[in-house]
Amino acid sequence: MVVYYSQSGNTKKMAKLVAEGIKKEGVEVTLKEVKDAKADELLKYDCVVLGSPTYYGTMAAEIKQLLDDSVKFHGKLEGKVGAAFASSANVAGGNETTVLDILNAMLIHGMIIQGDPQGDHYGAVAIGAPDERASKECLRLGTRVAKLAKLVSA
Ligand SMILES: Cc1cc2nc3c(=O)[nH]c(=O)nc-3n(C[C@H](O)[C@H](O)[C@H](O)COP(=O)(O)O)c2cc1C
Repeated sequence: MVVYYSQSGNTKKMAKLVAEGIKKEGVEVTLKEVKDAKADELLKYDCVVLGSPTYYGTMAAEIKQLLDDSVKFHGKLEGKVGAAFASSANVAGGNETTVLDILNAMLIHGMIIQGDPQGDHYGAVAIGAPDERASKECLRLGTRVAKLAKLVSA
């Protein structure tokens, strides 16, 4: 499942690319805006990927709310694959800290997080809308999480 919040469409474009990468691996994907997602839905999926714009160096309140709501299922997301992506306005504007804050919550849930030694190390990041580089990173993130989810759920 790929869930995102996006006010001006940049993170939405990233989310679509991540979902495309997942599909490329032959894995089914549900793509949702966070307003249409409920915390209990997270239980249904082998893998959860969250995307957010960078707001003051961290995730948007809407994504934090979904994570806070997931406390109802604390312990139940253990062993699922997690990943994150973020858009910011500026280089060094906090997109990596946004990704890491999301991953931090996922780790507390006991989720499995894979870093990337070649691509964006923590999760895909973009400055504004995804350019060619960021688009490749979003696709790459999607294929990598799908591969891992297949392994974990086998
Ligand atoms: C409330 C608010 C806080 C923001 N804080 C940051 C920030 O700390 N660093 C940064 O680079 N961009 C910041 N931005 C810019 C957004 O992260 C950026 O425009 C992003 O691409 C928006 O994504 P979206 O089109 O998916 O909404 C902020 C924007 C808003 C509205």
